[in-house]
Amino acid sequence: MGRQHDGSGRTAVNPSTSPVVRWWRAPFWLLGLFTGAKSFVDNPILGSRRLNRAGLHVARLRAAHALARRRRARIARFVPAELREQFDRDGFIVIRDFVPDEEFHRLGGALLNAGLDARAQQQGDTVTRRVPLGPELRRRIPKLGALLRSSRWRALMAYVATSWSEPLYYVQSVFGGAALGPSDPQLELHSDTFHPSLKAWLFLTDVADDGRPLMYVAGSHRLTPKRIEWERRKSIEVLESGDRLSQRGSLRVKADGLRSLGLPQPTRFAVPANTLVLVDTCGFHARAASDRPSVRVELWAFCRQNPFIPWIAAGPLSRPPLAAWRVVGLLRMFDWLDRIGMAKQHWKRAGRHQPTEL
Ligand SMILES: [Fe+2]
Repeated sequence: MGRQHDGSGRTAVNPSTSPVVRWWRAPFWLLGLFTGAKSFVDNPILGSRRLNRAGLHVARLRAAHALARRRRARIARFVPAELREQFDRDGFIVIRDFVPDEEFHRLGGALLNAGLDARAQQQGDTVTRRVPLGPELRRRIPKLGALLRSSRWRALMAYVATSWSEPLYYVQSVFGGAALGPSDPQLELHSDTFHPSLKAWLFLTDVADDGRPLMYVAGSHRLTPKRIEWERRKSIEVLESGDRLSQRGSLRVKADGLRSLGLPQPTRFAVPANTLVLVDTCGFHARAASDRPSVRVELWAFCRQNPFIPWIAAGPLSRPPLAAWRVVGLLRMFDWLDRIGMAKQHWKRAGRHQPTEL
C-alpha cells in the first residue's frame, strides 16, 4: 500500500491497486459523504467527475454551510454584536490586547521561558514545532487553564467553530526559513476544507510584516454564487489539473482566481503580541512569504467537526475533563498507528525546548 501526505500532518494509506481490495472500501467511501471527508483523490465517490458535474460537491458545500449558519445563530448571543459583524463580513475576528496586560506578561513569560516537550514537522523551508496543551501543562500554568476556561474565550471559539466542542490547543512555534527545502506549501492561498471550521492564534510574540504573518482574504468564507461556481469547476477539474493538496481537498487559489471571485487582496496580520485572531478556514488564507528567517510563537487552536451534525453541544471527548487529554491522546494514537503501519505520524518527537529557540 502507498501513502500520501495531506499537508495537515496526517498521512492516509492509499487503497491497494487490486480492484477487490480497493472496492471493499466502497461502503466507507459512501459513508464519507456524510462526514468532513474532503479528499477528491482518496475517495472515488468524492472525486467522481460525473457526480460532481451532477452537483455532488456543491450539494455537500451548500448543506454544510447552511447547517453551520444555523449552529452559529444559536451561539450568537454569547458574542458581542460588533465582533459578530466583523466575522460575518470578513471571516475573521481580530482583538488586540486580548488578555489584560499584566496577566499576559505572566502567561507569556511562563510559556516562553519554559522548557517544553515538543513535536516538530518540516514543510518546505519552515519548521513548525507544537507543544500540546494537555492537563499537565494546564496544571503547571494555572493562568493558561483559566484563560481557556473563560467564558469570553470559549464563546469566541465556539462561534467561529460553530460548536461548543473544545478546540485542540497547542503552543506553536513557526520557524520560517530555518531549513533547506522546497517552497513551503503554506505560502499558497488556500481553503483548508469545504466547510466552516476554526483556527485561532493568540500571538505570544510580535509578528512583523516580513515575519511570515498569517494572511486572510476578507469575505472569502462566504458561499457566494461565484464561489459556488468556482468550487463546482474545481471539483470537476481537480483530479486532472490540480496540485496534490488541492486534490486532497485543500483547494488552492491564484491571484487571478481571487479577482474572478470578486475578492480583495489578502489582509496581513502583522500584529503585536497579545493579539487574538480567529478565522474560518474555509476562507482563503496562507502564510506570507519572507526573504529572511523568522520566528513567531502563538497559542494555537484548531476545531474541525463533522459539518453535517445539526447540534452545537460538545461530545464527551470534547468537553472537560476529557477534552484536555484529547490533544495528548491524539498524538499518541498517531504514534501507535505509525508503529503498526496504518498511518504516518508527521509530528516527530523533538525534545525539550523553549518555544522561541530552534
Ligand atoms: Fe490552511
